[in-house]
Amino acid sequence: MMNRLMRYSWLLLCLSVGLTACDDDRIDVLDIEIPEGYALSAGTSTIFMNSSKAYDSPADWVSGVYNSRFNDGDGLYDDVRTSSNGMGGGLGPVYAGYSCGSCHRNAGRTKPTLWSEGGSGSYGFSSMLVYISRKNGAFFQDYGRVLHDQAIYGVKPEGKLSVEYIYETFTFPDGEKYELCKPAYSISEWYADSIRPEDMFCTVRIPLRHVGMGQMMALDPTEIEALAAKSNYPEYGISGRCNYITERGVRSLGLSGNKAQHADLTVELGFSSDMGVTNSRYPEEICEGQAQVNQGSMMGLSYAQLDVSTEDMEDVDLYMQSLGVPARRNVNDPQVIKGEQNFYKAKCHLCHVTTLHTKPRGSVLLNGTRLPWLGSQTIHPYSDFLLHDMGSEIMGVGLNDNYVSGLARGNEWRTTPLWGIGLQEKVNGHTYFLHDGRARNLVEAIMWHGGEGEASKNLFKNMSKDDRDALIAFLNSL
Ligand code: HEC
Ligand code: HEC
Repeated sequence: MMNRLMRYSWLLLCLSVGLTACDDDRIDVLDIEIPEGYALSAGTSTIFMNSSKAYDSPADWVSGVYNSRFNDGDGLYDDVRTSSNGMGGGLGPVYAGYSCGSCHRNAGRTKPTLWSEGGSGSYGFSSMLVYISRKNGAFFQDYGRVLHDQAIYGVKPEGKLSVEYIYETFTFPDGEKYELCKPAYSISEWYADSIRPEDMFCTVRIPLRHVGMGQMMALDPTEIEALAAKSNYPEYGISGRCNYITERGVRSLGLSGNKAQHADLTVELGFSSDMGVTNSRYPEEICEGQAQVNQGSMMGLSYAQLDVSTEDMEDVDLYMQSLGVPARRNVNDPQVIKGEQNFYKAKCHLCHVTTLHTKPRGSVLLNGTRLPWLGSQTIHPYSDFLLHDMGSEIMGVGLNDNYVSGLARGNEWRTTPLWGIGLQEKVNGHTYFLHDGRARNLVEAIMWHGGEGEASKNLFKNMSKDDRDALIAFLNSL
C-alpha cells in the first residue's frame, strides 16, 4: 500500500513537472507543442524503474489471474527449451535461439556476440537473426528464410555467419571526429548445397527491445494511416508510408519488426521459425522437407505432436503486452531540457513522433483475451511506425540491405521507437543500435541516417558539440 502511495506521489510530481515544463519558453522557441505529462511514457502502464529489470516488469494494473498468467508467460518466454518431444521441448532440430529470452534478455536486446569475436565459433551463439534470399527475392529450397545457425545434438546447423567490419573516420564541422563501421557478412559451413554469394542477399538483425509492445498492439491503425498521409515534409525530404501484410486472407497494417513486416507480436512465428517449436499456427517443423528433419527422425524424434499450446503462447503474448514502460528520468536536468529542444530543432520528431494514442478498446491477444487497460492512453513512443527510405550512400551502402519484406524495400526501415533506449546499457550491458547493431553508440546511430533522414542528420551534425551532447543526454533520458 505504502509502495503504491509513494508511486502515486511520484506520478503526481512527474505530472506537475510535465505541466510546468509546458509553460516555459520552449514552446516559443520551437513553435511546437511539447506533450503534457511527457515523462509518463505510456499513461497508466508507466512504471518507475531504472534497474536492469526496467523492461521486464509488469504494469501496475496487472493483478489476479492476469498476474499468474503474466508469470506463466514470463516463464515460457525465458525457459530454455529442450530437444525432447512435446510440451516444454521441441527445440530444433535446427534453431536460431533456445528461448525467446536467449535473444531478448531481460525483455531487451541480448548483446550480439559476433562483434567481439569477429565470427561465430562452432558453438557460438549470436542472438542475431540472419535472413537469406536469392537475388530475385525467392528463398533457397534447402534453407528457407532464416539461417538456423544452431542445431540439437547430432544435427548439422544450416550454416555459420562471419562478419568483417570496414572502418572509416569522419569529422564534424567543429573538428570532432567520429568513426562508422560497415559490416560485410558472409556465410560458410552450409549444411547442404553451398550457395554462391553472387546469388544471395543476406541481412542480419539484432533483437528489438520489448518496450511498449502492448501499446504498439493497441495503436489505432487509422491514426498511423493518417500520419502516413500527413507525413510529407518536402523541405526535409521526408515522407513515411505504411507496410501492409496479408496473412490468412486478412490484410493488416504492419507494426512490429524492423521493417514493420508483422501485424502481431510474432509469438507463433518466434516459436516456430526461431526455435523450431511447432504450434497450432505453424504445425510443421520449420525445416520440413529438408535434410535435417530426416536426421532428427533417424535419432528417434517424432514431429507429429505440437510443442507449445495456443494457451501457453497467449500467456507469452499477455506477458509481453502487460510489461510496464519505464518513465523518463532526469527530465529536469537543464542539459536534458536543452537536448529535447535540439531533438525538435533537428526535426527528429518528424519520424520519431513523440505522441500517439491507443484505441479505446485496448488490445486483443492471439487467443481472444482482451487487455482493456491498454485502451485510450496517450503514449510517447518516439516513432511513427512508418517506413522511411534511409538511403544507400553512406560508406557506399548506407542502411540498404536489399531485403524486401512485404511492401518494404531494401532501403526502407520502420522508425525504431526510442522509448526506453536510455536504459538499454543498464538492461543489456551494451550500446549497439540500428537493425544489425552496426552503431556502437547513439552518435553513430544518428550519423548512419541517410535518405529521408539525411537533412535531419545534417542538422545534428552542424550543431555545436554542446548541443549534440545535450541531444544525446535527452535520448538517454528516454
Ligand atoms: C535468435 C534470436 C531470437 C529469438 C530466439 C527470438 N527473437 Fe524475437 N526478435 C529477434 C530479432 C533479431 C528481431 C528483429 C527481427 C526483424 O526486425 O526482422 C526480433 C523481433 C521480435 C519482436 C518485434 C518487436 C518490435 O519492437 O517490433 C517481437 C515481439 C519478438 N521478437 C518476440 C519474440 C518471441 C515471443 C520469441 C519467442 C517465442 C522470440 N522473439 C524469439 C530475435 C529473436
Ligand atoms: C526520416 C525519418 C527519421 C528521422 C528524421 C530520424 N530518424 Fe532515427 N531512425 C529512423 C529509422 C527508420 C531508424 C531505424 C534504422 C535502422 O535500424 O536501420 C532510426 C533509428 C534511430 C536510432 C537507433 C534506435 C535503436 O534502438 O537501434 C536512434 C538512436 C535514432 N534513430 C535517433 C534519431 C535522432 C536523434 C534523430 C534526429 C537527429 C533521428 N533519429 C531522425 C528514422 C528517422
